[in-house]
Amino acid sequence: MTQYHQTRTQLEDEMEFLREKVTRLETASSPNDDWDELGIYRSLVEYANDAMFTKDLAGRYLTTNTEFLRRVGKVTEDVIGKNVVHVFPPDVALLLDSEDQEVLQTGRALETEHKVQTVDGVRVLIIRKLPLRDEDANVVGLIGISRDVQDTKRAERALKESEQKALEALDGLQQAQDNLVQAEKLAALGELVAGVAHELNNPLTGVLGVTQLLLMRDPEPELHDKLRIIEQGAQRASKIVQNLLAFSRKQRVEPESIDLNEILRQTLELKVYDLLGNQVELELDLAPVLPEVLADVSQMQSVFLNLVNNAQDAIVEHNGKGTIGIKTAFTNEKIRIEIADDGPGVPNENLKRIFDPFFTTKAVGKGTGLGLSICHGIVQEHQGTMSVVSGPGEGATFILEFAPASSVEAAPLSNKEESEAVVIGGGRILVIDDEEVVREVLESVLSRDGYQVETLSSPREALPMLEQGQYDLILADLKNPDMSGKEFFQELGIRMPDMISRVIFITGDAASPNAREFLDGTGRPVIEKPFELLALQRQVAKAMV
Ligand SMILES: Nc1ncnc2c1ncn2[C@@H]1O[C@H](COP(=O)(O)OP(=O)(O)OP(=O)(O)O)[C@@H](O)[C@H]1O
Ligand SMILES: [Mg+2]
Repeated sequence: MTQYHQTRTQLEDEMEFLREKVTRLETASSPNDDWDELGIYRSLVEYANDAMFTKDLAGRYLTTNTEFLRRVGKVTEDVIGKNVVHVFPPDVALLLDSEDQEVLQTGRALETEHKVQTVDGVRVLIIRKLPLRDEDANVVGLIGISRDVQDTKRAERALKESEQKALEALDGLQQAQDNLVQAEKLAALGELVAGVAHELNNPLTGVLGVTQLLLMRDPEPELHDKLRIIEQGAQRASKIVQNLLAFSRKQRVEPESIDLNEILRQTLELKVYDLLGNQVELELDLAPVLPEVLADVSQMQSVFLNLVNNAQDAIVEHNGKGTIGIKTAFTNEKIRIEIADDGPGVPNENLKRIFDPFFTTKAVGKGTGLGLSICHGIVQEHQGTMSVVSGPGEGATFILEFAPASSVEAAPLSNKEESEAVVIGGGRILVIDDEEVVREVLESVLSRDGYQVETLSSPREALPMLEQGQYDLILADLKNPDMSGKEFFQELGIRMPDMISRVIFITGDAASPNAREFLDGTGRPVIEKPFELLALQRQVAKAMV
């Protein structure tokens, strides 16, 4: 009974003590002596994730928490009263000790970062050391707190890396979007330009044709000169139409195996006097031998001419005189052509835009801004590359690279046709074109050559006429609102198969894929608008034989 009473009294005392402790804990609003008395600081230190320790002036460990012991893989007796060299490997110990000394001597706190071998492996630790002072503020030791930031660091690094990757991906996306927008813009522009160019073809054919027709009649000198001016204007306009078609990539590529040195020389011949007149010197450094490339001669000429013209314009506008250096070489399995000038160069902000269609810095009427975009299109079509190196005041160098022609070489185009004289003979020709001006030109020129010419605006009307009369040749426009050239040809094949070998097509659209496919399939000759009369006469004469 007595024992029971004793235990009960003890328990009640203990409970009272605990109750009191809880009450004091509940009312304690800030860390104060009560906390200390209750051993709460000790608990905080014990359960902290950071390793903590105190040292005396000689650098001996006074106290450590559980985390510290865990990390160094030792028990209390191995650490307390011992120096840092007994706890850490020598190199780390030396470092930690020198830091301890600094804190003890200066009395100032210190924070450092170290990679330290622990039971968890090599970890990145941030160690904070503060001086420990007595009541008179004398430094009597130090307090250390070591935080393991390895995982934070790794996470930070991973975050940075993924941020970087995200930025790169965003960049790529932006680029892709830009390219897409650019491609779409170009496609739309190409369509528009091709449409306009086709519309211009017919009236131009008329102007050129009628002018050349009048010139053939040996007019008096004054009229002759004026007609020549009209002819040249029309030819220039035709060239622009060709350029627009080239820009919209609808021009036919006729590749043959060619020596680009040769094409360069030919092109420069056209420019030599103009350059000299403008005080622009030419410096040529052509490779003695260049492998041939598979390319379209006139398109390559157009590329070179555009680049030389640009260089000339840049020089003339800048200094009034200067030098264009043209260099060719065969390097890295590529034919490389450099066209450099010592003009003003291209400012950085323009470098990205100069290949854009209609980008020009030239005065209104002086440049259309199509030159480089046409060059770029042509070079791409030839699977080549084109780039520019330039900075303000450094001049500009345009670099072209092409692969050499493969072992399968295209047969060179024959020039024989050009030199052949036109043999004009008689015969009956039916012209079918919905454009009146084209019909008139064809009728005039062909009847002048001694042919008997009849014209019609629609292929539909032509079919019954062909069945009735005897025609030696049919000149048929490919595009017709009433009945397409294709339908006409098919119908003719059914009704009068003998006649299909007497058809010559006229078209302003030979390079469009559909037209090309059809025309290639027929194997029939094609006259492209706007045509030169001589070429037309030649084609007709040839077909009549
Ligand atoms: N060699 C060069 N030096 C300095 N700037 C150049 C050079 N070549 C081209 N450029 C710049 O690039 C722009 C675009 O050239 P591009 O040939 O496409 O058009 P353009 O010469 O202005 O007009 P176009 O060729 O249609 O008559 C030029 O207006 C000029 O600002
Ligand atoms: Mg130009």
